[in-house]
Parts: sequence; C-alpha cells; structure tokens
Amino acid sequence: MTVLQVMSVTTVIKYDQLVCQIRQQIENKIWLPGEKLPSLREQVNLSGMSLMTVMHAYQVLESQGWIQSRPQSGYYVAPHTEIISQPQGHQKLQLTESVDINAFIFDVLQACRDPHLIPFGSAFPDPELFPQRQMMRALTSVSHQMKPVDAQHNLPPGNEALRKILAQRYALQGIAVQPDEIVITTGAMEALNLSLLALTEPGDWVAIENPSFYGALQAAERFKLKTVAITSDPQQGIDLEELNRALETWPVKALWMMTSQQNPTGCTLSTGKKQQLVTLLARHNVALIEDDVYGELYFGNEKPLPAKAFDQHNNVLHCSSFSKNLVAGFRVGWVAAGKHAQHIQRLQLMSTLSTSAPMQQTLARYLETRSYDLHLRRLRRQLEQRKHLACQALKKHLPAGVTISGLQGGYFLWIALPQQVDTMALYYQALQLNISIAPGKMFSSSKQYVNYFRFNTAWWQEEHEQAVAELGRLIRELL
Ligand SMILES: Cc1ncc(COP(=O)(O)O)c(C=O)c1O
Repeated sequence: MTVLQVMSVTTVIKYDQLVCQIRQQIENKIWLPGEKLPSLREQVNLSGMSLMTVMHAYQVLESQGWIQSRPQSGYYVAPHTEIISQPQGHQKLQLTESVDINAFIFDVLQACRDPHLIPFGSAFPDPELFPQRQMMRALTSVSHQMKPVDAQHNLPPGNEALRKILAQRYALQGIAVQPDEIVITTGAMEALNLSLLALTEPGDWVAIENPSFYGALQAAERFKLKTVAITSDPQQGIDLEELNRALETWPVKALWMMTSQQNPTGCTLSTGKKQQLVTLLARHNVALIEDDVYGELYFGNEKPLPAKAFDQHNNVLHCSSFSKNLVAGFRVGWVAAGKHAQHIQRLQLMSTLSTSAPMQQTLARYLETRSYDLHLRRLRRQLEQRKHLACQALKKHLPAGVTISGLQGGYFLWIALPQQVDTMALYYQALQLNISIAPGKMFSSSKQYVNYFRFNTAWWQEEHEQAVAELGRLIRELL
C-alpha cells in the first residue's frame, strides 16, 4: 500500500467519524431541525480535523439529506430530519419479557416524556391544571429580593417560613407537628428514600404493599433490603392480618406504604383502618413511612386524615410534596420525621446537601398568599370531572369482564382485565398507536398483576375517547 493510499484511508475514517458523530447529535436532538450547526472553522477547532476533512463530512451529510447549506450563512439541520429520527423512548422500548424491572420502569417513564403519546401511562398530572402564572410571579418576586446569604438559610432542615406554613397546615388538621420535625427535601422521592435509609441497614427487612409504587421496589433494591410484600386490595387496602403475621415472622424495620389514593390502586384506607394500622405497627415497634403525595387529591368535602394523625408514639414519618398538586418541576417535598428529623438532615447533607433555595423560597412566598387552598379546590373539581369522563369512556369501550378501581380520588384508575390478557403485550401494541399505559408488572416483583394496568385520567380530553376505543379493540384481540 502506498503512502498516498494510507493517508486517504485515514481521512476516510476521520470524516466518517465526524459524519456519524453529527448524525448522532441530530438524532439525539442536540441540534434541532432548522438550527445552525457550528461553522466549518468552529468544527475544525472542535474536532481537531483539517478543514478539508470537515468540509467533506458536511458535504456527505448534505448529500444524505441531514443538513443543508445556506449561501453566506452556513450549515443548518434539514427541516425534515425529525422524520428520520425515531423518538428515543420507542427505540429503547423494544425489550423482551426477560428485561429487569428497573430497566423496564425506566423505559416506560422515558416513553411518557414523548409529547406525541397520549399519556394514560404517565404518573404526572396535566400541568395545565396548575397555577403556573402565579408560581412564576412568586419566583420572579423571590429572584428580585434574594440575597446571597439566603442559600445558607435554606440548608437542612430547609426554609424556615416553609416549614412553619407546613406545620400550620398539619395543625389545621389537628396533627401536632413542630417546624423542627420537618425536613424539606427534593420532592417526596428524597423524603421517602432518606426515611428508609435512616431506619434500615443493608440486609434488613422492610414491608411494602403489593401492588406498590415502583419507587418503593427500587429503593429496597438500591439499599439492599429484603422485602415482604403485603397484599393490598383495591377496595379495602392493606391486609392487616397478613401484615400482623409478617411482623410476627420477620424482624421488619419499617413499612413503606400509601394510606390515601394509593398508587396504583387509588384506594384510601378508612379512618378506622388507619388507626388500627398505626396501633399494630406501634405494638411491633415498626416505623411507618407514609407516602402521602396524593393526599390533597381527595374527592368529597373532607380531607381524609393521614395515619400520622393517630401517631402517639412518634412512629410515623409522613412524606409528601407539591409535585402532584401545585408544581412538578420545582422538586420540593418534605418529611415530617419526628424524632428521626436530625438523622435525616445528616443523611441529606451527605447526599444532595439541600433542596434548591429559590424553589423553597418561592413556595413559601406562594403559600403565604393563601391561594393554595383555592387552587386545590379547583384542581380537585377538575380531576373528579376528568376521572368521571374517562371512566364513562372506559366502560363504553372496554370488553365485559373488566374491573375498574380507584374512583374515590386522585387521578389513577387500576384496571383488571380478564386473566388471559398480558398487559405487557397491550403496552407494546398501544405504544405503536402512540398510546401509553402503565402495565401491572411495574408495581410488583411477583407475576401477580400481569393482567392489570394503571390509567391516568388527569390529562383527559374529549378526543381521548378514540384512544380508549383503540385500547378496547387491542384488548379484544388479546382475549
Ligand atoms: C406514590 C408516589 N410517591 C412518590 C412519588 C415521588 O414524588 P415527587 O415527584 O414529589 O418526588 C411519586 C411520583 O410519581 C408517586 O407516585
């Protein structure tokens, strides 16, 4: 091989590398259709390649239709490249049944980010239902008045004004929680994880519900805990006898569960059952990590009390957030942790350090205006209305033999299909039609809920009825 030939091979490899690199960047939406790419000179500096190599790479991309040159202006991503690139979620979702549950959960959540999908599988409410303009006004006002020293005032346990308002809200429900017992966290997710971390060591036993919020399954796996899953009925909630037997059998350190608007079943325990639960746990000296993120989304006139209201032994860590009822992106939550508050603060200092100071201050500012309860009343009305309409459509289009639970509150329905229908198959087929659902497999480490799926009604629009009709058709085909 001559020197000339060797050089040309090297050049081909180099420009080919650059072509692949830019193509991948466009696919990954780093450069969007119509956006200007780095100039030839900038690309030479960035890549360390010669001007000839870069020019050649750009010409190849142009000939393949990825980019366009505009005279006197430079190179731009071709307007139609969106057609070439598949949404990422779809590509990743070509998984087999043998995939591990965490990877699958991740893929379902990723798919829900795709704005083209009808989000029946989403865990989030429709942000259009939130007072976004008011929140932004509060944020602007805070940003004008914030002082550099404020960052320190928002370190764990968190913003004092916010903790005081939260303590007042507990007091209005007749629940005695001091501001010092509250730790502000990055969403309820951090509150729950830190609580679990504070109460357990790797190898310990923890009780969860079956089915349960997948966050509990993931946390137990991450912290290397052994789990005992207690049956939770969509109507009656957790089976207390089964729980009692489990507590007598294993040295369980904590129970992580939802007592209101359970995810995925939508069940709210009766007040009496919440009392019994707290008494049972106190008798066994087992802490309750109460996940109450949907607590404000009840239907009816009175807010159901959380189990925390019956906690006489400082045994309940009550976790919640503003993510599902006021603002999702701020990522502000809290735990009313009682005697565990100090420990949780230390764990937080070692992990995320603190929750964002401007977000905490903005929430405190907004909550001081007292608009929150007005907003919550309107939100509950809208959610109830949407759930009712979604339910009517589901009853009309799903085949006989289907059971729908979760009507009492929140925005989830838990749907049981006839036993022979695998909702994983339904999930993949619905995705082809741009419809997402959350298959039962996400909510249990057993194979018990393969014919179930969770349906989010918060985004309901009239035109979604067509999508429900499609789901009905797919289910009939799977029967
Ligand atoms: C049951 C449950 N708990 C906790 C969380 C996490 O809440 P946050 O977004 O406030 O971290 C979610 C979010 O989907 C949830 O569904």
